[in-house]
Amino acid sequence: MSVRSGRHYTAIPGPSVMPDRVLQAMHRAAPNIYSPELADLVGTIVPDLKAIAGTKHHAAMYIANGHGVWEAVVSNTLNRGDKVLVPATGRFAFGWAAMAERMGVECDILDFGKRSPIDLDAVATALAADKAHQIKAVLAVHVDTSTSVKNDIEGLRAVLDAAKHPALLMADCMASLGCDRFEMDALGVDVMLAGCQKGLMTPPGMGFIFFNDKADAVRGTCTQTSHYWDWRPRMAPEEFYQYFDGTAPTHQLFALREALNMINEEGLENVWARHETLARAYWAAIDAWGQGGPMELNIANPALRGHSVTAVRIGASHGTALRDWLEAEMGVTLGVGLGMAEPNDPAWHGFFRIGHMGHVNGHMVMGALGAIQSGLIALGIPHGPGALDAAAQICANP
Ligand SMILES: Cc1ncc(COP(=O)(O)O)c(C=O)c1O
Repeated sequence: MSVRSGRHYTAIPGPSVMPDRVLQAMHRAAPNIYSPELADLVGTIVPDLKAIAGTKHHAAMYIANGHGVWEAVVSNTLNRGDKVLVPATGRFAFGWAAMAERMGVECDILDFGKRSPIDLDAVATALAADKAHQIKAVLAVHVDTSTSVKNDIEGLRAVLDAAKHPALLMADCMASLGCDRFEMDALGVDVMLAGCQKGLMTPPGMGFIFFNDKADAVRGTCTQTSHYWDWRPRMAPEEFYQYFDGTAPTHQLFALREALNMINEEGLENVWARHETLARAYWAAIDAWGQGGPMELNIANPALRGHSVTAVRIGASHGTALRDWLEAEMGVTLGVGLGMAEPNDPAWHGFFRIGHMGHVNGHMVMGALGAIQSGLIALGIPHGPGALDAAAQICANP
């Protein structure tokens, strides 16, 4: 006997839950891509995306996932032989650096491990040592989805300014846009990238780059920008097809428009506050379980945790056993631990992640927590009491 039947809840850190409204927006016949309907729709999407990004500057949209916009950023801002600084706090900075290296960019990686944020002093030292200003950009991930650490992007700006260093500040907000407060212009970020499949609640396949005039001036010096990745026609298209350098992703645009409507209706401040409350509910429960067992939040300091994803350590092989049990018996899928151990290492089975990004509310979180508690009981994994009470307190008194 299992109690799995019913609506399945996939609580992985992206792609996230798609609202019924978003799904229904795609349930329609193909539009004529030459009609004004689609151009008008995109004309409403761009300003809304910029508002969520906190920028008055430029935006370019791509039919691409996060890897695609990583490459697009490199293609528009760097030349072969350029050097960048990559402060790494988990899997995703390494992924971006690998992309840049393949394109001939030299990456100086500062590895801060799997449980710590970027050390601003170490970045300051690296910038101070770069007297000739060979470092052309700092590539930083805002919320790393593997470790769930949140980095201090404002602090990075301050460090660059204090060093009077002209490098571009580039931020990966794949896991934070529409979840964690991030106001690009106010933070002094030159380039920001994000995707549609996490906080923006849209099926994977669209990526976005936001950039300011300083970054666009650098674009003017790039000699290798490919036709497809070039952000210039996309930022100010003379003809509609230039938004996407070809056929527009019609149904994703319908989906994205509806998702943006939902964010606008709730209000971005409320969206951020909801993510924070739900994250705190998870953390409170995990802390309580951890009082009597092996469960532990990967990032010890709450101020350094992202609000969209929580990385949890529970010891091998409890992580895999719990995930498998939840999926088979409760209809809940949690994310695998990412980048914590090699997949062929038994330690790999000691981690899991919970996605709480986008279309998530209190009952989904309380339901997932109740399911996890059931799993801990069923599998005999030691755990402290009071986890559900602690989470309920936070939902009751946000
Ligand atoms: C922070 C971050 N950057 C980049 C990526 C890569 O995005 P994609 O898997 O869409 O290529 C991800 C994916 O989860 C991510 O979380």
